[in-house]
Amino acid sequence: MKPITAPQLKAKKQAGEKIVMLTCYDATFASVLELTDVDCLLVGDSLGMVVQGRSTTLPVTVEDIVYHTRCVARQARQKLLIADLPFMSYQPSVETALVNAGRLLKEGGARAVKLEGGFEQFETVRALVRAGIPVMGHIGMEPQSVHQTGGYKIQGKTEEASQKLIQDGLSLEEAGCFAIVLEGIAPETAKKITQTVSIPTIGIASGPDCDGQVLVLYDILGLNPGWQPKFAKKYLDGNRLVFEAAQSFVKEVRQGLYPSEQQEEKESLRLMQ
Ligand code: KIV
Repeated sequence: MKPITAPQLKAKKQAGEKIVMLTCYDATFASVLELTDVDCLLVGDSLGMVVQGRSTTLPVTVEDIVYHTRCVARQARQKLLIADLPFMSYQPSVETALVNAGRLLKEGGARAVKLEGGFEQFETVRALVRAGIPVMGHIGMEPQSVHQTGGYKIQGKTEEASQKLIQDGLSLEEAGCFAIVLEGIAPETAKKITQTVSIPTIGIASGPDCDGQVLVLYDILGLNPGWQPKFAKKYLDGNRLVFEAAQSFVKEVRQGLYPSEQQEEKESLRLMQ
């Protein structure tokens, strides 16, 4: 099977086929997701929160994203692998963006990059695309601007805000983006953007009318300790399952049930093979 490419996503929009993206940060989860029908894997800067335990995505570095992208790329060969450009890796200048996006492809093995921002990123997106780097846009709630917006708030609720987001979508399309993430956008506005642009929109907390949906892997697996974003459906009670597995191990070790003679025999047979 050939890997999914950025231009194929547009064909999916035209065919009315929903696009599915999940975040992924390591080789173990990548090897599982590689066997699923997910279209795209995103090495998101959300890794700052779910992997590194930070309170925002801002401290994530290009090195962090290169490292995690490389881990995912070793196992995810059929998926469109997209890597996030972290905070301040593209905002300072077009040259900075080119150098850092280049690293995500050359060193990380990504096939595309994602960056936050609308029309103000026009020149940067255009330069990246001209350099042969596919770019996914990201508008609406932009976590890298959390200190400016004062929190993670739903965007595009007023007519004026909605029009601005539609213009942002059109700018990103004109600059050459192959798709746009719509994060935390009022569903009616997300629907209008989706109907206005010809490139696919991939929604998160933006209602059902986007061309696709993306969620953070740890959210759908229920791995987060004690909290869960309201919009994210939990398909597994991962936190509890991991806790129970670890506790069972502790119990068996303390009771002298693990390792058992039988298990040791099986293990030595496996090692001899
Ligand atoms: O960093 C991330 O995981 C993201 C998704 C939530 C779209 O940007």
